[in-house]
Order: sequence, then C-alpha cells, then structure tokens
Amino acid sequence: MQCRNHKGLAVGCLIVISAVSGVIALILILVDIKNMYQPSPNKYGLVFDAGSSHTSLYIYQWPAHKENDTGIVSQISMCEVPGSGLSSYADNPAQAGEVLKPCMDQALSIIPSQQHRETTVLLGATAGMRLLRLQNETQTQQIFDKVSKTLRLYPVHFQGARILDGTEEGSLGWITVNYLLGTFIQHSYINNWIHPQGVQMFGAMDLGGASTQITFHPSGDIQDKSTEMVFRLYGFDYTIYTHSYLCYGQDQALKRLLVHIIKKTSSRSVKHPCYPKGYTANITLSSVYNSPCVLTMPDDIGANVAVEGTGDPSECQMAIKNIFNFSACSTKSCSFNGIYQPPVEGEFYAFSAFYYTFNFLNLTYGQSLSMANSSIWNFCTREWNELTDSFPGESRKRLLDYCSSAMYILTLLVDGYKFDSRTWNNIRFAKQAGNADVGWTLGYMLNMTNRIPSEGPCLLKAHYYNLWVAAIFFIVLSVMAGLVAAPLHCYFRNACSGQGGWP
Ligand SMILES: *[C@@H]1O[C@H](CO)[C@@H](O)[C@H](O)[C@H]1NC(C)=O
Repeated sequence: MQCRNHKGLAVGCLIVISAVSGVIALILILVDIKNMYQPSPNKYGLVFDAGSSHTSLYIYQWPAHKENDTGIVSQISMCEVPGSGLSSYADNPAQAGEVLKPCMDQALSIIPSQQHRETTVLLGATAGMRLLRLQNETQTQQIFDKVSKTLRLYPVHFQGARILDGTEEGSLGWITVNYLLGTFIQHSYINNWIHPQGVQMFGAMDLGGASTQITFHPSGDIQDKSTEMVFRLYGFDYTIYTHSYLCYGQDQALKRLLVHIIKKTSSRSVKHPCYPKGYTANITLSSVYNSPCVLTMPDDIGANVAVEGTGDPSECQMAIKNIFNFSACSTKSCSFNGIYQPPVEGEFYAFSAFYYTFNFLNLTYGQSLSMANSSIWNFCTREWNELTDSFPGESRKRLLDYCSSAMYILTLLVDGYKFDSRTWNNIRFAKQAGNADVGWTLGYMLNMTNRIPSEGPCLLKAHYYNLWVAAIFFIVLSVMAGLVAAPLHCYFRNACSGQGGWP
C-alpha cells in the first residue's frame, strides 16, 4: 500500500510537471507567433522631395508593432507635384503651397483616416532652393511660409519644411541605400536582428538638377574633416566621406556648358558640339544667364543667340572638361576644384539623373567603362532628325540633352571622382533598391522619426528573446520530467510486485 502511494505521488507529480511545462511552453510560443503575425495597424510617413526641377511626394508605410525594427519600411506610393521646382514660385509664393494639395489629398486617401494624426509629414528642399537663398533670402522665406501654411491645414503631424544642406543630403542618401540593402542590420533566421559581418557598405552617388553628391565609407582616414560625417547607428559607429557640389547638378552643369560655349566667341551664332547635328534654335541670353551658377553677365543680356548642333563627341568632351577645374588639385586625394576626396572604394549606387540618363542609353546593365564610353560617343554622333524619328515619345528637350548629360556623367565619374576601368564595374546605376526609390527622402524620414536608433537592436528584441528562453526552459523541463517519469513508473511497478527495483 505504502509502495503504491510513493509510486503514485512521484510519477503523478512528474506527469503534472511535464504537462504544465509543456502547456506553458506552448503558450509562450503562441504569444510570440501571435506577435509576429497579428495584423497590426500600419504607420505612415510622407516626405516631399522639393528638388530643383520638380517636387515629388513619397508615401512610406511600416507595421506599427515593429516600430523600432528595421528593414521593413516600404514605399507604397509616389506622387508627382505638377509644375516645376519650388524655387520657380519665387514671384508667386502663394502658389507654391497650392500645388502641393493634390498630392497631399491623394496620400491621405490611401492612408486610413484613423492614422492621419500620427502620420509624420516632412518637406525637404535641396539645391534649387539653396541657389534661390543665395539670390533672395526673402523670397525663399516666403515660399517656406506658404508651404508650411498649406501643410498645417491637414490633420497630420507636420514636422516642418526646410532646406537640407548638401552634407545632409549626401549622408541621407547613403543611409537610404544601406538601410534598403540591409548593411546596417539584418533579420537572422532565429528571428532577431544581427549586425552583418564583413559586409562592405555601399557608397551613394546622387545627381540632381542643381547639385551632385558623393558619399562613401573609406577604409583610411579622412584628412579634410569638413567632408567627414560620423554617425552611431544600431550600436555601431560609421565614419563617412561626403561632399556636395553645388552647380554640378545636371541642369546647372549643362547651363554652364552652354555659357562656356557662348563665351568662347564674340559672335551671337554658336556651334554646340554636344547638340545633335541638324539641330538649330534661337535662344535668349537672359534664359541662360539666370542662375547664381553662371557668374558674369554679358552686356547684351537682351540679345538672342543662334545655336547650331555639330554632334562632335570629341569637341563635346573637351568643352565639358572646361566646367571643371582639374588644375586646382595638386594631390592625388582630390577630385576637382581643389576638393579633397579619398580614393573611391567599394560598391556604389548611382541614382537619380545618373540612372535616368544611363537608362535611356541602355547602360545600366553592368557594361564596362570602354563599352559605356563607345555607346555614348556613338549616341553623340546621331543626327537630330534621325533621333526625333527613333524616339517619337521622348520629350525634345531631353532628347536634345542626352548626349551632353551622358558625356557630363562620364567626365564627372572618370576625370572627377577618378573611377577607372576596374572600379567602374563597382557602380550600379539604379533607381530602386529593395522596395523603394533611392534618394535622401527615406533616410530623412528614418532619421526624423528616430527609426534608426543609435543603440543596437538587442535591447529592442529583448522581449522576444526572453520569451524564447522561457519557452525553451519549459520545453526542456517538460521533456525531462517525462523522461524521468517513464522509467520511474517501471521501477515502481517492479518494486511493488516484489521483483526488486530496476527490471
Ligand atoms: C538626424 O537627426 C538629428 C536630430 O534628430 C540631426 O542632428 C542629424 O543631423 C540628422 N542627421 C542627418 C544625416 O541629417
């Protein structure tokens, strides 16, 4: 009788422990799975990219319960604001706010209304407004006042409209690229975030209408500290080189090229080697000399100039080199105009106009430098009639400029940044990475909403990690109790039937 009681108690206890542990483990696992898969409300962020030639609105979304994780912000939509860039409203600032409305309305129709109040809205203006600020501070301020007034009318969390400086623009593009490509942090197979080992950060090259930026992580020291930016992201320190060249965006560079060509002669009839043969036009000097990037004005600013294309790639390249000052560099670690730059290193994403121009010429498929070079030279010799016949859907303005733009990009990358036939293959000409357009906007939103914490994700994930540790503890306990209960049951059965202990 005594024997039976012992047996019952011990085995019973173990079975209860085993069962209870099993149930606890199951609950813990279900809680975690529920956290992972429960549909949760999404959060949204809107960023206006007020570029020099036009404004776009990017609409981003991420799951609310993964607030502080990474790699999960996606771009759900994009809206093009009608008309040209913000700086074109200098004489009519009220309109600068008005034109943003259709895109705001469209964005808010996509976002569920209960999420509107929490939606962060930002507007960042780049080199077009930097140039206007140089010319007229009052007009610049008026434009921002009107824009802010309009955006405050909406029931959203408006966090301001301002001009980003070139260093910020470059850094935020670099953050965007590396965030989208998962080089800061990656999702590991056991459902936590890890810092990827031994990955090279991607460099970023952005070509806008009025400025261009190059940003990368050099392995050596950065000697000119004015080009250095230091961040702490997810518990790791990053030191990057970044420089923004004002007036070296595509539109301003081509304007300066035209001015250089016009200035070479006193005649008011000029030959443009980067325009296709057969193209002729009459332009007013005042339409050329209308930017702070173009310094000295001619006396006859009201005059017209007859421009004729000659489609000569060699002359075109020589003319383009004239808008750079290569002799201002005396050391090897220098790009042009005397600007310090460490040797380019690692892979680069080249986006915005780098991509648009090279995409038109079918040069985004990893072609070698010599192939890119010969395609561009080839394109530059095509005649205007033949071009307009071959590309009837393309705007005349863009078709006219592709040779100049492509030759400008080639000169900037090779003679300026010093890419050679070997490092050229490390450049990816792309519009998107992961699931979003590459540019500074995503980086700006991530930074402004503190979605890239300076400390690592270990703390953020601790909740889930503890849950898993507890679940594993209870699974082990359950299995152990089960394993002990079974032989014990046998031991007692034998002991009690008088056949002595273990069978
Ligand atoms: C990110 O935001 C902080 C303030 O929140 C600011 O000091 C910093 O300059 C921003 N970084 C970039 C690259 O804009």
